[in-house]
Amino acid sequence: MSDPSPAPAAPLPKGLFIVIEGIDGTGKSTQVKRLGEWYASLGREVLLSREPTDGPWGRKLRESASTGRLSPQEELDCFLKDRRQHVEEKIRPALEAGKVVILDRYYFSTMAYQGARGFDPAEIRRMNEAFAPRPDLLLILDLEVEAAHERIGHRGDSANEFEKRESLQRCREIFLSLKDEPFVRLVDSSGSLDEVSGRILEVVKNF
Ligand code: TYD
Repeated sequence: MSDPSPAPAAPLPKGLFIVIEGIDGTGKSTQVKRLGEWYASLGREVLLSREPTDGPWGRKLRESASTGRLSPQEELDCFLKDRRQHVEEKIRPALEAGKVVILDRYYFSTMAYQGARGFDPAEIRRMNEAFAPRPDLLLILDLEVEAAHERIGHRGDSANEFEKRESLQRCREIFLSLKDEPFVRLVDSSGSLDEVSGRILEVVKNF
């Protein structure tokens, strides 16, 4: 009796990796959920996740948003540690299992927000791409700062509000600087949630 011949190597399952980015108030979290539901309706297994995560580094970052204790450097380090853990424990395993992974924010937010705090966006990108896989598709939800800011209930002309808008303006510009890359699509996020979902589905179907 001869030994059974080794089973042919199974083809590597290939997941799909989509990231949704944009400044606060562009409706990312709703759109991530809806896109996930659409893929699930096609019978795909879906992992929805977000950054900062709910892990220890992400929690530290969320807490600091209200207490304001972290220096720009500490904050950057925390985002990187949070992301390393996210990539290793969730993102890679899900992609290897063939799932559709959809993230609400990823390292493009670090480029934009920590870029707006004075770091070089290109350098931040390099640090991230050393360990974090690039998505197959990056959807940038784009909206004017004034409109986005009003959607999240901020109005007014105090110095603080002005500063916030200035910094969001810088974030928007950094996001927009990515728009011509082959894996990036810009999505107009004005109008209703349904209109924006429609635009996203259009992009995803044609991608
Ligand atoms: P967000 O998910 O928008 O917060 P919430 O769930 O409270 O609405 O993200 C929190 C903040 O973190 C947001 O202002 C953007 C910022 N952020 C960075 O500054 N750098 C990053 O790398 C990421 C992922 C987020």
